[in-house]
Amino acid sequence: MELQNDLLIRAAKGEKTERTPVWLMRQAGRILPEYRAVRNSLSGFIELVTTPELAAEVTIQPVDILGVDAAIIFSDILVIPEAMGLKYEMVEKKGPWFPETVNGYDDFNKLRKADVESDLGYVLEAIKITKKELNGRVPLIGFAGAPWTIFCYMIEGQGSKTFSKARRMLYNEPLLADQLLQLITDSTIDYLKAQIAAGADIVQVFDSWAGILPPDHYQKYSMKYIAQICDAIEEVPVTVFAKGAYFARQEMRHLNCQTVGLDWNMDIQESRRLIGENKTLQGNLDPCTLYGSTTEIETATRKMLDGFGPSRHIANLGHGVYPDTDPEKVKVFINTVKEYSAVMHST
Ligand code: CP3
Repeated sequence: MELQNDLLIRAAKGEKTERTPVWLMRQAGRILPEYRAVRNSLSGFIELVTTPELAAEVTIQPVDILGVDAAIIFSDILVIPEAMGLKYEMVEKKGPWFPETVNGYDDFNKLRKADVESDLGYVLEAIKITKKELNGRVPLIGFAGAPWTIFCYMIEGQGSKTFSKARRMLYNEPLLADQLLQLITDSTIDYLKAQIAAGADIVQVFDSWAGILPPDHYQKYSMKYIAQICDAIEEVPVTVFAKGAYFARQEMRHLNCQTVGLDWNMDIQESRRLIGENKTLQGNLDPCTLYGSTTEIETATRKMLDGFGPSRHIANLGHGVYPDTDPEKVKVFINTVKEYSAVMHST
């Protein structure tokens, strides 16, 4: 199926586009009443994630309602630890919770490499249905968590401000840490390849907890494994989003990926200089800008677009959209990107 709107894919590859493509991290769910209606008819988040027809429905909602240039498959990064043997729950208003965690070799030895077809078939099915229903309107983004971020949840069992338990293992049991990170990496490579085979047009790796590591640990315990993933995926463009890893931007230049995501703390020009001309940059409007007035959003969005310039940029926020954001304000952001960048590209 040929894509009618392939702006995102062309921008990722560094090809010329008529305007800058735009989508939002965490656009599926959370902000849309249409999402909450589907979600509230079910027992919870996990039922939605594991019901392919409904996952496909909420994946497409932001394409229809907001007018974004890409869909991102509705799932979660935590399906990988589950497939490896650690079940998770999603506690209302609190977030993920793992009844069992990895504390040492006894726990590690019970884990397995994810068997993607049997453990994660529901995600692949959701991708196939979504592709069919999108009918080529926009590309579909597949995704996974970066091994370090997944490791954080598998050790800690829940969100944390410091993830000091996970970080402690890097000091106390570095060999076990490496073995677990490798098992997550191997599972993730299989998983992303299966998403691509099912129809994902581009994949993104989310390293949400990159910013808590010191630079040497980041190289050793995160970037090393992300590099393996980038090297393994040759079929479609890869985006690496490492939140808070401003100190690693220079090294990102050497990753075998097409796109690097920037968070809102990262200076655009400095990032371009450090990451180089051969990557597309994605981001990076402060998500809180969308709490501002229409005029404020328009001004900030134009300034961001001017900062990146007309080529090798995919417009996005600097992190996921916050749940209490007004969808109308999201539309202001999207429409400003579409209108202003079309003018930028034509001059
Ligand atoms: O981008 C999208 O819209 C696609 C779906 C998606 C979800 N999670 C659905 C979700 C994606 C890409 C994710 C990624 C994810 N999940 C990350 C990395 C991105 C980031 O924001 O840093 C992380 C760290 C998680 C783990 C996770 N899942 C947490 C911490 C939480 C609770 C807090 C929160 O963000 O809402 C979730 C739950 C979750 N994942 C929800 C959704 C729509 C909300 C649950 C609900 O509907 O009740």
